Amino acid sequence: MTSPLRIGLAGLGTVGGGVGKQLESEGARLAAVSGRAIEITAICARDRSKDRGFDISGAKWFDDPVEMAKSDDIDVFVELVGGSDGSAKSAVEAALSAGKHVVTANKALVAHHGAALAAMAEKGNAALNYEAAVAGGIPIIKAMREGLIANKITQVSGILNGTCNYILTEMEETGADFADVLSDAQKLGYAEADPSFDVGGTDAAHKLAILSSLAFGTEVDFSSVYVEGIEAVTAADIRFAAEFGYRIKLLGTAVRNEQGAIEQRVHPALVAHSAPLASVSGVTNAVSVDGGYVGNVVLTGPGAGEGPTASAVVADIVDIARGITFPPFILPQSQLSAAETVDMSDYSGAYYLRLEAADRAGSMAEVTKALAAADVSIERIMQRPDQGRDGKWLPVVLITHETHEATMRRALGLLSEHADVVSTPVVIRIQGS
Ligand code: HSE
Repeated sequence: MTSPLRIGLAGLGTVGGGVGKQLESEGARLAAVSGRAIEITAICARDRSKDRGFDISGAKWFDDPVEMAKSDDIDVFVELVGGSDGSAKSAVEAALSAGKHVVTANKALVAHHGAALAAMAEKGNAALNYEAAVAGGIPIIKAMREGLIANKITQVSGILNGTCNYILTEMEETGADFADVLSDAQKLGYAEADPSFDVGGTDAAHKLAILSSLAFGTEVDFSSVYVEGIEAVTAADIRFAAEFGYRIKLLGTAVRNEQGAIEQRVHPALVAHSAPLASVSGVTNAVSVDGGYVGNVVLTGPGAGEGPTASAVVADIVDIARGITFPPFILPQSQLSAAETVDMSDYSGAYYLRLEAADRAGSMAEVTKALAAADVSIERIMQRPDQGRDGKWLPVVLITHETHEATMRRALGLLSEHADVVSTPVVIRIQGS
């Protein structure tokens, strides 16, 4: 048998511990499928004395991940430290410069620095594998790189953040508002103490930027992702959306238009109850890929957590043990193009709009007149006097026909200044039938 593949594990948190446990308990089977043993020969973590649930006694201990990344004791540097910069980046660069393979679960690092790191990996003939960075346990990168490779992808979209999907599902099921559900989720440990990356859409945007690069053969370009989070979604909007036949989801979507330009966006969206993504609830993630010969493929599964995320890391390690390496973004670096970006103001689609209008004769006509003046065509409209406020204001909720984003913004400007409209109207894009 070939000599064992030597792993240096940086970070022994939830995922790192899971990787250690899986490599230990599945060791014999993974050695058999890989044709060689996989051994953790080095570890870098904060606390040496803590019980990690697997035997770390044979591993050399490092306090500095960069030192471990360069060390002759390892063949593969597994980065589970996190963060787009700092020691995670320095250590991954050190490993790649030394010609070592890298496996990481770090979506922020790959989204921000993927192109440069991939160039380093390619130069050193090393792997840069990051299956766990996108949708945790769902093997979406393997699917796009291998099983779907014959297909020219036109769109990739998905529910890429479990925390947001959990919060929106709870809001729908309990009728509670965003802040209350978030606070309960934090108490239960489902949401981070600082949830801003999750609820603000950044975490989903990191994953989307990576998917977009894989789908369209372009350099990963996080800075071009349009991002809106779920903080402004209310229980009332979830209820009204349901009356129109929709659920509200935080979607990440990347589309290539006919001219080859790419639109990348993360925002709450109304999804028809009948659409596959609408039925994905709780912390579950899903990725939907469209295009080519296969049509549509939807992969659903756990997007986070010890077992699922560690199993994706282990799969990346096993590829290396089997001697399989791929260019990190499917195409060789020299063939990736810089993406031409579609600006969000050029987006077109249907919209959900909710506003509070004065409860008096003629106010509905005023609202529809303002929308017509802005060139927005209404498909469906309802007013809800049963849910009015102070006997003076009542909710008016409507769905538009396909409208240009720039037109919708102009309409919002007109409505916000209208005497018959109180407070800023709520607008949510509609996507997916
Ligand atoms: N915090 C992420 C989520 C998981 O809630 O989906 C890791 O990206």
